[in-house]
Amino acid sequence: MDKRVRGAPSVLFLCLGNICRSPMAEGAARAACAAAGVTAHVDSAGTSDWHSSEPPDDRAIAEAARHGVDLSPLRARQLAASDYRDFDLILAADADNLATLRARAPGDARATLALMFDMVPGRAGEALADPWYGDARDFERCWRDVTAVAEALVQRLSQHG
Ligand code: 4NP
Repeated sequence: MDKRVRGAPSVLFLCLGNICRSPMAEGAARAACAAAGVTAHVDSAGTSDWHSSEPPDDRAIAEAARHGVDLSPLRARQLAASDYRDFDLILAADADNLATLRARAPGDARATLALMFDMVPGRAGEALADPWYGDARDFERCWRDVTAVAEALVQRLSQHG
């Protein structure tokens, strides 16, 4: 299936489980695009299939809801070979996810592969900390971080068309 919106940039956020960091990044990016009037196709996936078809973690849903973003309709899915063709940009949460992303790239991949924080001036190379083993404060920090990524991404998309 072609997941691209015709003419619009497409971005896939990637983490391990697709239930904490990447769905939060997806929600923050959708909200930032809407606020800025930027049209983009935004999705998320996990390198693993451990939580496939599950909704985001309750703590991620709760934190996003505090910021007016509803993550509850999202369902986890694993990164697919077609994602490398369907998306312009695939942004991994940490170095492990990026290494897996690079290792699985098919020969006809067209997506640019990078870390989420590579979008943020002065924060390139940083990892997005995994809140899965943490508590509500870790999810608060994760929301702040994915919001910084989302705002920087929207800035780039609005500059580069
Ligand atoms: P995520 O967090 O990669 O941000 O979705 C995790 C979710 C689940 C697990 C690890 C990290 N897990 O071990 O099941």
